[in-house]
Amino acid sequence: MTDRYAVIGNPVAHSKSPEIHAAFARETGQDMRYERVQAPPDKFSQTVLAWRDSPAAGANVTLPFKVEAFALATVRTARAIRGGAVNTLKFEGNEIIGDNTDGVGLCRDIADNHGFAMAGKRVLLLGAGGAARGVAGALVDAAPAVLAISNRTLGKAEALVASLATERDRCEISVVNMDTLLASRFDLIINATSTSIGEALPPVPPACFVEGGLAYDMMYGMGETPFLKLGASRGARTADGLGMLVEQAAESFMLWRGLRPSTAPVLAALRQGQIVVRQAP
Ligand code: ATR
Repeated sequence: MTDRYAVIGNPVAHSKSPEIHAAFARETGQDMRYERVQAPPDKFSQTVLAWRDSPAAGANVTLPFKVEAFALATVRTARAIRGGAVNTLKFEGNEIIGDNTDGVGLCRDIADNHGFAMAGKRVLLLGAGGAARGVAGALVDAAPAVLAISNRTLGKAEALVASLATERDRCEISVVNMDTLLASRFDLIINATSTSIGEALPPVPPACFVEGGLAYDMMYGMGETPFLKLGASRGARTADGLGMLVEQAAESFMLWRGLRPSTAPVLAALRQGQIVVRQAP
């Protein structure tokens, strides 16, 4: 029987995960289907359970349900526990396995698709909301010398750094305020705030970027965002979040099917507009 998967969120009409997973399935010869399922805002659990019983083998979870998916999972992977959020569910008997592939997807995109080695580098993460929390632990795994976290609401950055307390022997992790930022430089600056949706700049002094560094916006489908424009004006290379989207999908596929698909052809097709992607509003 064909195994069924879906992306569950609200909205989901914009999601290109079905096209990405269809391409992975074609390439690896897997007998599976991947659909879109929109969950009403107050009926996430019911929607997931109905999907499982339809029957289905798993699901991706997108905004705004990643924290609810964490609560619903009966078994959670270490990387899901670290961010307190789940973007991948696998149904196994009575168990609902919850994983989070966002962080590894981001790091793989940075390393493999952009050729940037984070080890020993100075990394600045802008934001402390769901997107930033979901990737912070994976950034520590990439062994930068410094992981600085900055956020408009400082208390949220402090809470995120506190949640990484057990990782502190692996790299220097700190909250940075505007005064500190004004006197700092970073090899890699990641925009995990939602500012690009409103075509606004996150609060980051231009002097933080370095020539030949990398400015990475986790947003995709928005063209060159103000953040990326600023990075480019300071001589940094730029990257949007499209590669992360494809890499996190590949990691989910791996969890479900035990096979790693090649991501480069799918990413190239997306970039050439053969698969049109637009970001959720
Ligand atoms: P997401 O799931 O996309 O991370 P979120 O949890 O609402 O969404 O987090 C949004 C992030 O973008 C937060 O870090 C937020 O900063 P605050 O914690 O201070 O709210 C940041 N953000 C959103 N709009 C911003 C703006 N205009 N300037 C600076 N930061 C902004």
